Amino acid sequence: MKTDREAVVWTRCGNAPLKMGRFTVTMTECRFSYEPGYIDSGLPGLGVLYAPEFVGTTTIVWKRSPYFDLLPQLQALIPPASEDNFQRQLILSYLAQQNQMPEPGFDSDWAILMVSGHGGIGHLDVFSDDQQAREWYADTRSPALFPVKNEFGFSLKEFLIWLDDSAGTLLETLGPTPSVGGAIPKLLLSISRKGWDGRIGLPTRGTVEGRTDIVLKFEKDTYPGIVELEALALDLHHQAGFDVPRYWTAEINGMPVIAIERYDRDSSNKPLFTETLYSLLATGDSRITHHYSSSYDAIGYAIDRSPIPIVSEPMQAKLHLLKRLLMSFVTGNGDLHLENLSLLQYGRKIGFSPVYDPTPMRAYSRHNMLSVMPFGNYGELDTNGKPVDFHTAILRLSKNLGISQNLLSNMIEELLYVSRHYSEQIQSLSSLPEDNKTYLSEIILKMRAKLATLVSVQMQTSAKHE
Ligand SMILES: Nc1ncnc2c1ncn2[C@@H]1O[C@H](COP(=O)(O)OP(=O)(O)OP(=O)(O)O)[C@@H](O)[C@H]1O
Ligand SMILES: [Mg+2]
Repeated sequence: MKTDREAVVWTRCGNAPLKMGRFTVTMTECRFSYEPGYIDSGLPGLGVLYAPEFVGTTTIVWKRSPYFDLLPQLQALIPPASEDNFQRQLILSYLAQQNQMPEPGFDSDWAILMVSGHGGIGHLDVFSDDQQAREWYADTRSPALFPVKNEFGFSLKEFLIWLDDSAGTLLETLGPTPSVGGAIPKLLLSISRKGWDGRIGLPTRGTVEGRTDIVLKFEKDTYPGIVELEALALDLHHQAGFDVPRYWTAEINGMPVIAIERYDRDSSNKPLFTETLYSLLATGDSRITHHYSSSYDAIGYAIDRSPIPIVSEPMQAKLHLLKRLLMSFVTGNGDLHLENLSLLQYGRKIGFSPVYDPTPMRAYSRHNMLSVMPFGNYGELDTNGKPVDFHTAILRLSKNLGISQNLLSNMIEELLYVSRHYSEQIQSLSSLPEDNKTYLSEIILKMRAKLATLVSVQMQTSAKHE
């Protein structure tokens, strides 16, 4: 990289679009400074640990690493570099149409960030300069809704497999779609507030009466039945008392899709502050290099010990975390990583966001993993050289989170009860292949038995103590 690069951060989480600050990337650092006017606004900042009231006008200096060229909150706006990342390919091919062919690596990341670093998930909008920001926000036209079938006079499936020439047509239809992180193809769109009716529009850029923003996730051939599974898991989480966004399943050109309402927008389509735990933890700890490089115990520790409060209600947050992990065991998710957990600010309060991406990935053998992150030292060797077993690990995690055995038992009982018909529900899905049904059912039935003994063992021990 020859010269320093500069860009600006704006947000429309206040009453009007406002410049939050600017950043510079040098060979070795990413440096961000808040605008003095922004600090006075009292609006949320870049991230929980970078609250404007604490940082003030002091420049935040981030040392570039092989994992984060930019501050984690800004890095999060760039779709991860992988060959088949749909969003990235879409933008790179859009750039190529304009004769911009950045080198792979940071050059490409930067070019992608300048095209798609705004209007995405959350409250942060990156632009190359203030002029670009003002022009972008000035377009407050209500995006038209059009029926999916008529406008997509081609097979979306083909585009998702990725054909270079077709990118232009897709871009003409959808515009450069703002980015969402992750590997499964998805688009940010808006639909009628009443719910999915087969019509879609571009995401809103301000209040649009009767419109709500959604994430539209497409089913890939490699994960047959995943849309149905995600829907079932969202229902179960709702029944277990979690906040779950509204969702709709449908088919587009023969391809199953799930449209999930955005939790990072309020009822007047205004962005709310949100940050993934990946971004939050990476801010405070350079050992966080991947979306699974932590543990549930360490998240609890961070909630308790962070000098800057991470959540408004620590106990509630830790109960949420434990319940999410147990629910991930019960449903066969296994994939509750740091990017599948986010914080959200509601009014002055900050806590865990509604549930998203609880898909039972263990239905697919290559994702069959009990847990993507460690808990209670499960599987590690104890002082006697024996691996820590499942029960011991759960009890240890619960203890580390400051949650009593009694509460833990009640939680497990509740979740086992809520999911009592889960195996039959899996069997009655229509597009999940039989093999995957059998596979997932076996996994979750074993897990239920294990969790059930944990509850009964505990009840026996507490009876003895009485
Ligand atoms: N309903 C929603 N509202 C706002 N943001 C969302 C919503 N659903 C997902 N997101 C954001 O989009 C990101 C990607 O979505 P999601 O986790 O559902 O899919 P994915 O990452 O492709 O799946 P995987 O984690 O298996 O790779 C999430 O990390 C989250 O930040
Ligand atoms: Mg995800």
